[in-house]
Amino acid sequence: MQRPDATVIGLVGGTGDLARRMVIPGCFHLMVAGLLPDQCRIVGLALDELDDDGFREIVRQSLDEHARIPVEDAAWERFSAMVSFAHAHAASDYAKAFAVAEQALGGSPRRVFHLAVPPSAAASVVQTIHDAGLADAERTRVVLEKPFGTDLDSARSLNARLHELLSELQIFRIDHFLGKEGLQNILALRFANAFIEPVFNRDHVDSIQIDVPEQLTIVGRASFYEQTGCLKDMVTTHLLQVLGFVAMEPPVSLAPEPLRDRTGDVFRSLKPIDPADVIYGQYDGYRDEPGVAPDSHVETFVAARVEIDSWRWAGVPIFLRTGKAMAVSSETVTIVFKEPPMQLFEHASKVRDARNALRFELNDPPGITLEFLGKQPGPHLTVEESELDLGLRPADRDKLLAPYERLFHDALIGDQTLFTRADGVERVWEVAAPLLAHPPAPQPYPQGSWGPAAAQRLVGRRGWELSARHSAAAS
Ligand code: BG6
Repeated sequence: MQRPDATVIGLVGGTGDLARRMVIPGCFHLMVAGLLPDQCRIVGLALDELDDDGFREIVRQSLDEHARIPVEDAAWERFSAMVSFAHAHAASDYAKAFAVAEQALGGSPRRVFHLAVPPSAAASVVQTIHDAGLADAERTRVVLEKPFGTDLDSARSLNARLHELLSELQIFRIDHFLGKEGLQNILALRFANAFIEPVFNRDHVDSIQIDVPEQLTIVGRASFYEQTGCLKDMVTTHLLQVLGFVAMEPPVSLAPEPLRDRTGDVFRSLKPIDPADVIYGQYDGYRDEPGVAPDSHVETFVAARVEIDSWRWAGVPIFLRTGKAMAVSSETVTIVFKEPPMQLFEHASKVRDARNALRFELNDPPGITLEFLGKQPGPHLTVEESELDLGLRPADRDKLLAPYERLFHDALIGDQTLFTRADGVERVWEVAAPLLAHPPAPQPYPQGSWGPAAAQRLVGRRGWELSARHSAAAS
């Protein structure tokens, strides 16, 4: 992988939860992997009354709690020497802090700002960067966190404000699901091979399921969650971005624009989401979590049926499901193929899956599995469920960057391929508008379950692939 040019990294909100959990450990891992610039400074910018040493303590604590690898003394020495802090409120604070860091590196280093701030604050921070004289097109990139706006109007006005100050080439909207190895497996399988494409369409595919249940509750994140809810936290961001990759037409190349044009086509051809095709849920006990309103109607679970109105996918139901406090944690995309036109094997109708499915696991360990019926060993010509597992070799897993690290490195080298673009983000909000206007009432569900019963019915006779596999494995 490419080593980035000399850079000053500005961590806006650098003392906050996201910076401590993801961004600081991510930068550290990149340094250890030899993927931070040789010439690098990391400036924490926040409102805390701290000096450089105070910030270094926060950085050390963040590594002790969240680093994926042991923090060796020599690596810590190198990392802490890069780090400084500025109590930053006004443009002049930013300008001063960057002047010092840039002088230490010499020449004209790049500037990469990471904004760990709420969506409502993003535009004003970019304005401050601009007012500090730090936004020039040649040198500056800005990494923004989701959600990008909270509906179509706010996303449009955020993009419009950003575009007054920066070009789209300078804006890196992070959706960390796009940095997942398992998602890139989908691209490789589809476009590096010839066997899959002829059956990857409405003639052969029965349905698609993107299923991301999580066992964790919202504990410790009540104030974020009460404002955001499951739809905005997961569906209009991660799940629909994953769908963009699953359903896209072949791009002319894997360069950023051709690829994002094709995922953009998927969003453009998504039908507006009909609230009647959506089930909201709220786990029992959510209202008792500290910081949650006792009468909260915020959804912690969403199951939805969406459709892509395109030549390839028209009429193929696409099921999305995600929620907190559910039975298992998984990030699974299942392409369910149609049943054979006739069944020669009598026994086949007795097994659960008289059809094929292709399954992608997006989380660690990423994997691809083909489900099919194979011959049961023995004298009789009967079939049984079989799987062909195309998982990564364990040795290869050591080479993986975490999604966040991979995307941060992409921002450092200026590669926008795996970042969302303004038009795609706006279209997703447009598609979600009917649902935002008429949200269904959340139905209660027990913690540790698969969500409200109505969500089981949404997918029809076959049910959710993931739930069925888990209950088959348990029995
Ligand atoms: C985040 C959401 O973006 O993604 C969280 O805010 C969610 O609510 C998380 O738990 C899931 O990501 P991952 O990579 O941990 O599976």
